[in-house]
Amino acid sequence: MLPCDLPIVQAPMAGGPSTPALAAAVASAGGLGFVAGGYLAPGALRSAIADTQALTSAPLGVNLFLPSSPADPAAVGAYARRLQPEADRLGVALGEPRWDDDGYPAKLAVVVAAAPRLVSFTFGCPPAADVAQLHRAGCQVAVTVTSAAEARQAEAAGTDLLIVQGTEAGGHQGQFADDAPNRTLLLDALAAVRAVSALPMIAAGGVMTDADLRRATAAGAIAVQVGTALLCTPEAGTSAVHRRALLERRYPDTVLTRAYSGRHGRGLRNRFAGFDAPAAYPEVHRLTRPLRAAAAAAGDDSVPNLWAGTGWASVQDAPAAAVVRAIAG
Ligand SMILES: Cc1cc2nc3c(=O)[nH]c(=O)nc-3n(C[C@H](O)[C@H](O)[C@H](O)COP(=O)(O)O)c2cc1C
Repeated sequence: MLPCDLPIVQAPMAGGPSTPALAAAVASAGGLGFVAGGYLAPGALRSAIADTQALTSAPLGVNLFLPSSPADPAAVGAYARRLQPEADRLGVALGEPRWDDDGYPAKLAVVVAAAPRLVSFTFGCPPAADVAQLHRAGCQVAVTVTSAAEARQAEAAGTDLLIVQGTEAGGHQGQFADDAPNRTLLLDALAAVRAVSALPMIAAGGVMTDADLRRATAAGAIAVQVGTALLCTPEAGTSAVHRRALLERRYPDTVLTRAYSGRHGRGLRNRFAGFDAPAAYPEVHRLTRPLRAAAAAAGDDSVPNLWAGTGWASVQDAPAAAVVRAIAG
């Protein structure tokens, strides 16, 4: 089902960690490289795809975020007031908490024109018409799901594969509606999805070793999607504060929090992770962005989102190809 030799998919990691070099290195090792389309303007996505294709002739994946509904402005305003002392301390203004659709229609058009081998979605289920458009362009489609109900919905929309994400996963959780954090462990999620769908499953969340890969395939997955294990590779664009926090084990554990973006994601439990934010993505993402950027530039790791899955303690500063081969076993 996947256009690669090894059962390993590079997680698309929007916001910096994903680079053309990372996708090319994973592809050269026999995995599937991915372009992260989230946050990018349509023209930047077109360039990222072209830059990656200039480094590798291997088939690629491209990932898009589905838009969410606008949040309650009063809840966002209340959160902004709670964050004002942080902004004052860092000497920056809070960002404008503007809702947008992440450029979804324009980026879908970019992806249809580029026709990568695989297009994956997170934060929701694409409309059946969009899946059909990608199929006509020759793409396979994958949807990130966290439950049996989401798997059924994705299958009804015509997806070819399911990316089954467990609570262990680093970064944002892909649940269609972010009413509550996803607490389902990966192996339980795989079993729940397998019970309602025969579509091929890619397992995501906490995969750091060949033993993790074997557990996922024994539970029915055809491959794993790996993010955290690649964060400290030289090819990744992970920020210096993020790398240091992981490699120097600056925090004891990870937590699921909406504090940074208004959508649940798993990261190292720094001070900012403790803020109680409303369900308001991407408004809160924009609101906190200047704070996170200023702190990161000053080397202060108490504020930026330090995304990490539960397996983060075994992350290594090693070439991406070596990480992929080690997980392949
Ligand atoms: C820094 C970071 C950024 C991420 N960004 C995205 C993204 O843009 N799109 C997406 O579908 N998943 C994203 N994810 C989630 C991954 O696709 C995947 O579910 C997760 O990395 C798997 O868990 P692991 O980190 O324990 O390997 C991100 C994960 C991390 C760690």
